[in-house]
Amino acid sequence: MTPIDGRAAAAAINADTAAAVAALAGRGTTPALTIVLPTADESSAWYVRSIGRAAEKLGIRCVVEELAEPDALTLAARLAELSADPAVHAIVCQTPLPAGVRLEEVGAAIDPAKDVDGANPTSLGRLAGGLPAYPPATAAAVLELLRRERVELAGRRVVVVGRSLVVGKPVALLLLAEHATVTVCHSRTRDLPAVCREADVLVAAVGRAGLVDASYVREGAVVIDVGINPTADGGIVGDVAYDDVAAVAGAVTPVPGGVGPVTTALLLRHTVRAAGGS
Ligand SMILES: NC(=O)c1ccc[n+]([C@@H]2O[C@H](COP(=O)([O-])OP(=O)(O)OC[C@H]3O[C@@H](n4cnc5c(N)ncnc54)[C@H](OP(=O)(O)O)[C@@H]3O)[C@@H](O)[C@H]2O)c1
Repeated sequence: MTPIDGRAAAAAINADTAAAVAALAGRGTTPALTIVLPTADESSAWYVRSIGRAAEKLGIRCVVEELAEPDALTLAARLAELSADPAVHAIVCQTPLPAGVRLEEVGAAIDPAKDVDGANPTSLGRLAGGLPAYPPATAAAVLELLRRERVELAGRRVVVVGRSLVVGKPVALLLLAEHATVTVCHSRTRDLPAVCREADVLVAAVGRAGLVDASYVREGAVVIDVGINPTADGGIVGDVAYDDVAAVAGAVTPVPGGVGPVTTALLLRHTVRAAGGS
């Protein structure tokens, strides 16, 4: 079994991003990302701080704007203001959102040209229509890892477990664009292990620690674990029971060190592109 090294992939992406930032600096532009943090959720605050550190290392300005549990109207109004601000190139509205606020609703206030984490339903629609758009960075990270591992997708069976707007659905659209035969599973899927065992490539984006064990995996399959589940000791584990699955899979992403670092690297790549970089 080959472990898929997300940290190495992220380092390679970041090297390209640093070069693009330097080229932009030569034209007098510093890419500027604003992340709106609308709750006091501790793990998203931690995640956002890690994006800020990564941005700083690459010469990207990153402002974190903390809002105290705004309602949908207030949050959408702030996202619209940032969209209209020429000093802001890229906007992320960090989830989780306050109770009762839906990302589809407030994400629509983000200008698609600045929507570097694909939160505006227009971005997903453009993706479905094969038009240029920023996919959610996590969904893009799944495809980036498969591309870097040179995993053949055309004509192959891919099973995605999870159908959220931020991960499962955009991943499925991106895989279809690569000509994979895609099955999307969710909480109502019958006999999930049997469906998953048909996969040449299995993507787990559920949010249930260790749900995917060896009984879900065909011998030699490539397994991408998107899940981030907190553990009692302050760490994180994925949706895949790594050691169990490693015994049958051809390649697996670890958690941490798989999809996560690539997600951050792609968010910053998208930011530089939104600022006019390559
Ligand atoms: N690595 C990263 O950068 C990154 C970024 C974003 C999210 N994540 C992680 O990815 C995971 C998924 O995130 P999300 O935002 O997509 O979560 P979500 O919105 O809660 O969606 C979870 C999906 O899993 C399905 N599901 C739940 N229990 C299931 C079960 N027992 N069997 C089959 N399907 C089941 C749900 O089905 P229904 O639709 O039927 O409810 C839903 O479609 C989480 O662990 C999250 O922390 C990671």
